[in-house]
Amino acid sequence: MNTQTDKVVTYGNLVDGQWIEGTETFTVENKYTHEPYAEIAKADKALVDKAVANAKETFNSVKLPATKRYEILMKAAQLFEERKEDIALAITREVGKTIKDARGEVDRGIATFIASAEEAKRITGQGMPIHGQPGNEEKMAFSIRVPVGVVCAITPFNFPFNLTAHKVAPAIAAGNTVVLKPAEKTPVSAIKMAEILLEAGLPKGFLNVVNGFGHEVGPLLLEDERIAMYTFTGSPTVGKMIKSQTGIRKVTLELGNNSPNIIHHDVADLDRAVELCVSRGYVNSGQACISVQRIYVHRDIYEEVLEKAKKVAEAFVVGNPEDEATNIGPMISINEAERAEKWVQEAAEHGARIITGGKRDGALFQPTVLTDVKEEMKVMCEEVFAPIVSIIPYDDIYETFAAANDSKFGLQAGFFTSNLELAMKAAQVLEFGGVNINDVSTFRVDILPYGGVKDSGVGKEGPRSAVEEMTDEKLITIQL
Ligand code: SIN
Repeated sequence: MNTQTDKVVTYGNLVDGQWIEGTETFTVENKYTHEPYAEIAKADKALVDKAVANAKETFNSVKLPATKRYEILMKAAQLFEERKEDIALAITREVGKTIKDARGEVDRGIATFIASAEEAKRITGQGMPIHGQPGNEEKMAFSIRVPVGVVCAITPFNFPFNLTAHKVAPAIAAGNTVVLKPAEKTPVSAIKMAEILLEAGLPKGFLNVVNGFGHEVGPLLLEDERIAMYTFTGSPTVGKMIKSQTGIRKVTLELGNNSPNIIHHDVADLDRAVELCVSRGYVNSGQACISVQRIYVHRDIYEEVLEKAKKVAEAFVVGNPEDEATNIGPMISINEAERAEKWVQEAAEHGARIITGGKRDGALFQPTVLTDVKEEMKVMCEEVFAPIVSIIPYDDIYETFAAANDSKFGLQAGFFTSNLELAMKAAQVLEFGGVNINDVSTFRVDILPYGGVKDSGVGKEGPRSAVEEMTDEKLITIQL
């Protein structure tokens, strides 16, 4: 059981259906007030071992039919709907995300659970053309999809509910058991998800939760060969480490981006394009992997875009994320806001012009628009992960496609034009996991495939794709 003292709730780790409180805890702070918000029991080596052992044992001994998995995930979605305000408030406090966006995140998590539940009933293999090779006339063949086993889900701080949903729900839908390690800065909404899954009827052992710091719990999880697959969202540095330390076991990695968005001179609705490009660079204080970062604008409309972008940015209300009027809450930490401020200062020292913003107050970072930037500045070539967009004029659209591609990342890109042929060209040549025409890189539909190329990761999320990643195809042949 979780306990409450002076409004600071203590949460345990979940193993075999039991919440276990340890002797050592760590504090999750309210990202706006910086006061303690929750105490979390740390999982030590023995507890991590117990969690993985129990997940493995459960996988080997308990079979949960697809229809039951469907029912449990649907029931959980219904409970999320009923407790939306409670979950949203947890997200707001642990992340600093505005309450409006936190409610939106819960809605998205519900959609992710429902789509995953539906996938549980659709898992199937395929008939195989064995007669296509001589000598097999008296044979038949088909494939089935089987769960991989224990899936380890390591989740990020920025969307702690929906990105946990994107890992846990498809893993359960596919018939796996899960060991979840939530982000240490934001574990509360994921723990609430686990509590609700138990209430929805998930049998013990199908989801175990281990809490702690990445550098302590992470290596214990990575070295454990009982885990069949890792699904991770976070930084490219940690993603690469996971890939290098897990040998031939499966991984899905959703990593960073420095999302390019291009506004061509023939855009049908310039106001909409600028509004989207700027405001979707500030979602969750810019802390989203697909957050708009580089805005390439045709020179004919460049001055007009600068003016409009300034107005959009300056209309944003920065402050207390629990206040309904606020559009931008604090970044995840003062350190991160300092880092972002330093990147803006460095850019300014090398010639960048700050159109608006660029300053911070503690962890609150002003919505920022830069221009006169150079490709080698950190605000351009690294993932900025802060509410900072840069506007770059261009003359030649094909050179701009090349500039957009000239990045180590490749998650999503946006392109605004009314020229269908050019739109199709962009769809072909932009080297990204997703290209949004007449919308921004930040546009994501939770039921569709999502994942990048290059340093943005491997594998796809989105319930259907994730279920495929989390199952193996097994070939069956029959001699007649
Ligand atoms: C991410 O930051 O990778 C996810 C963004 C989203 O789901 O909107």
